[in-house]
Amino acid sequence: MNIKKAEFVISNTDPKKCPQDGRPEYAFIGRSNVGKSSLINMLTGKKKLAMTSSTPGKTQMINHFIINDEWYLVDLPGYGYAQHGKKGREKISGIINAYLFGREALSNLFVLLDCRLEPQKIDLEFIEQLGENGVPFSIIFTKIDKISNGKLNENVAGYKARLMETWEELPPVFCSSSEYKKGREEILDYIEKINNLLNGNE
Ligand code: GTP
Ligand code: MG
Repeated sequence: MNIKKAEFVISNTDPKKCPQDGRPEYAFIGRSNVGKSSLINMLTGKKKLAMTSSTPGKTQMINHFIINDEWYLVDLPGYGYAQHGKKGREKISGIINAYLFGREALSNLFVLLDCRLEPQKIDLEFIEQLGENGVPFSIIFTKIDKISNGKLNENVAGYKARLMETWEELPPVFCSSSEYKKGREEILDYIEKINNLLNGNE
């Protein structure tokens, strides 16, 4: 898919104030620092569209970006960042949950996982919740430039095996590097496929 236009629309902490025009949206979630904002910049080809930082906890609001005047990419705050303290973490997960579990326009949630790590309890529990609440999601393993292909294949296979312990079917799985623009076409094609289905074009 060709990204002709990508523009920031609005940031807020109240899902009710998010755009209400019904256009389909695709959101990015995962632990702080996993690479959500960087991925949005890589997909849109605009380095400074979403704010990134090497310090975790950068994104603290729900951020809507409109693409080609047709659909939205949504940058969400990361979950589980220790420095926010218990109160801070609860506030952030309140914002995330209010958005995720009440957002009709959410066509797909991309759950980002750091490809270098073993399955983490916090991510597995988060994914479990998505199933319980019927949120459509897929998985993106991020930062694949940081490990060898062999190790990546091993980690992805290990993760899939772990998910199959509780899921009957695996969600779509992608791999990305924002550093080397890897995974861009696959992720954008997937979004296009869903957009076409929603528009009744397929
Ligand atoms: P929060 O907003 O704090 O939740 O973080 P985030 O998930 O939006 O992460 P962000 O995109 O800000 O990236 C965090 C750090 O990881 C930054 O220093 C990025 O440059 C780095 N990073 C993100 N993606 C990649 C990648 O694919 N490869 C490498 N090597 N570094 C990456
Ligand atoms: Mg961010």
